[in-house]
Amino acid sequence: TMSATEMEERVCELKQKMGGELFIPGHHYQKDEVIQFADATGDSLKLAQLSADNTAAKFIVFCGVHFMAETADILTTEDTKVILPDMRAGCSLADMANIAQTERGWIEMQGSFGDTILPLTYINSTAAIKAFVGKNGGATVTSSNARKMLEWAFTQKERVLFLPDQHLGRNTAHEMGIKPEEMAVWDPIKETFEYDGELQNVKIFLWKGHCSVHANFSVYNIEQTRNADPAVNVIVHPECSREVVEAADYAGSTKYIIETIDQAAPGTKWAVGTEMNLVNRLKGQHKDKEVFSLNPHMCPCLTMNRIDLPHFLWTLESLDQGKVVNQIQVEDSVSREAVQALNRMLDRK
Ligand code: 13P
Ligand code: SF4
Repeated sequence: TMSATEMEERVCELKQKMGGELFIPGHHYQKDEVIQFADATGDSLKLAQLSADNTAAKFIVFCGVHFMAETADILTTEDTKVILPDMRAGCSLADMANIAQTERGWIEMQGSFGDTILPLTYINSTAAIKAFVGKNGGATVTSSNARKMLEWAFTQKERVLFLPDQHLGRNTAHEMGIKPEEMAVWDPIKETFEYDGELQNVKIFLWKGHCSVHANFSVYNIEQTRNADPAVNVIVHPECSREVVEAADYAGSTKYIIETIDQAAPGTKWAVGTEMNLVNRLKGQHKDKEVFSLNPHMCPCLTMNRIDLPHFLWTLESLDQGKVVNQIQVEDSVSREAVQALNRMLDRK
């Protein structure tokens, strides 16, 4: 068995050997032991843009989760092979909407509201859901363009179905002035709507899905933090609940969180409501500020953490031996429709 240092040295060797044929994108939630080797890091939007812009790389070893690797495969040409170092790196939020449930819910909604609904999907969704959305004229969104995309959606149709994260949907709709009684939640298990007021007045149908990592941040955490020190700034990701976003000082994508803390004055204090690897990295990078997790019990994303140094090295060693392991290949028929949803987003710079 190799030590961590030996593994790191071997990764450096292999990266050098492969040169421009290999591209390694890394999401901000990845472990330090792999993100140190990323050719580019980003939030979900930037990672999608990087794939769309790829011309040189024949192999993309994606340090992130399954839906991100699928997105990379959809946005690159056939000559580019996308590899996910560990196939178990899924996303529990993306798994909360499957295509059969979505089609059943859609039929129900069409029955009540006819052709007045445009589907949008958070990029944290399966390729099949993106294809469904693409086929029905809709688009993907990320946490950094959700408002812009939702505003666009309402220029297309009177109503929107927002898959699969109810919190990003609700937080964005709220920001646009849509009232709680104009929102309903579709429960894909019970196949019913949850709503206050009149169903006919609903503008946005939220899907009953959530991110299990961001569900760990509560208003209680914010109160405890402020009781201990009123000078602390609270910054959270919009996958947190409405109540948490409301109580926080700032909310935004991982890119926004990073930039806000980068630009903050020395001596400022930041309680951060997002994934633990990112919080710890920010803490290490900002010795002149105080950066800590909003939840003292810490919140790792277990599936992001599946990508570790041994799996990562294994994919590179395999490539060096002429073997492509763990390739993520979206079926052509799905890819053709999913790309429409992604392009409607990427075209709206
Ligand atoms: P962003 O990096 O786009 O903010 O997404 C966060 C996330 O949960 C990715 O899984
Ligand atoms: Fe999915 Fe949440 Fe993990 Fe992001 S942090 S990959 S949304 S489970």
